[in-house]
Amino acid sequence: MPTAKTKAAKAKTATAKTFNFADALLHWFDQHGRKNLPWQHPITPYRVWLSEVMLQQTQVETVIPYFTRFLEHFPNVEDLAKAPQDEVLHLWTGLGYYARARNLHKCAQQISEEFGGEFPGDVETLTTLPGIGRSTACAISSIAFGQSTAILDGNVKRVLTRFHAVDGWPGLPKVEKALWVHANANMPEDLSRQRCADYTQAIMDLGATLCTRSKPACLICPMQTACKAHLTHTVDQFPGKKPKKTIPEKSTVMLLAENKQGEIFLYQRPQTGIWGGLWSLPEFDSQDDAITYCVAKLGKVGEIETWPTLTHVFSHYKLHITPVHIAVKTKRAIQEPDQQLWYSAGGSHKLGLAAPVKKLLQAIDN
Ligand code: ADE
Repeated sequence: MPTAKTKAAKAKTATAKTFNFADALLHWFDQHGRKNLPWQHPITPYRVWLSEVMLQQTQVETVIPYFTRFLEHFPNVEDLAKAPQDEVLHLWTGLGYYARARNLHKCAQQISEEFGGEFPGDVETLTTLPGIGRSTACAISSIAFGQSTAILDGNVKRVLTRFHAVDGWPGLPKVEKALWVHANANMPEDLSRQRCADYTQAIMDLGATLCTRSKPACLICPMQTACKAHLTHTVDQFPGKKPKKTIPEKSTVMLLAENKQGEIFLYQRPQTGIWGGLWSLPEFDSQDDAITYCVAKLGKVGEIETWPTLTHVFSHYKLHITPVHIAVKTKRAIQEPDQQLWYSAGGSHKLGLAAPVKKLLQAIDN
């Protein structure tokens, strides 16, 4: 009676010879792949680039309304290049990872000024542009230009660590390097332009719809007869976990200064660092500091109210925010200095707002 292990090992040798990764993937894609995503009709380098940047670390369902709104405002790369940064950040509000929006804007300007408004199709040039890493460059090059360039985003990393049983956390450079080798080896060089694009979409779709993080659908997966993790019943062990690190926690007091017109005082954060370029509430170490600032800069202080603390989680730390709402008994200044303004919820400001700030402003409005 063969053990489970020897049975699996035999299956592995038998399938390794006959199984063709790309054929199986493309065959599955033809029947089950996603072919009606908004950026697929029509496919243009601008639309593909925009969608790929939005899809970095973000799910398709979240991206769709942002993508649609962006295209309505900026139908082409020149429109985006000419737009004020505030308008770009405003349309990005809620999508997170704001460096993507700043880089998107810079990239559009570079495409307009240095490339005559035409995206380059080769990976090497694409990776020189702001916000375009190797995997995004490969995705643009294959989907928009039909080049034979393998990709390696989060979904694909999960597929490949399982299929090839690659140990270790994919964020480690040596694991990532091994995965790139597999990614390139799996992709045949002789695919037609259309099939190169299909292959890229197919491997992302497989990761997003079947080879999911939890409860992967192995029994209907086209890779099951050759997937090392499936054959050895170790799917739950891949990808390897990120080494645990407790993330630091910080606390801050955010000042919600409201003037007689019901407007809230905001300032624009520096371009670099957290919420770079977004509009935010002034922050202090203590409520007393917030009051002192209010008296010195904004005018006579009226009623003071401390609101319940809310927590915002960044990738590398947690921020506990205690909002202090202060009624300011002064009319707003006629001339606001740059990087400062009185914000009225019903007004016509088109600003990028930090996510918890947007939440607090909505709370005032309700
Ligand atoms: N994630 C990254 N790029 C994608 C794409 N083109 N389609 C679906 N999900 C994606």
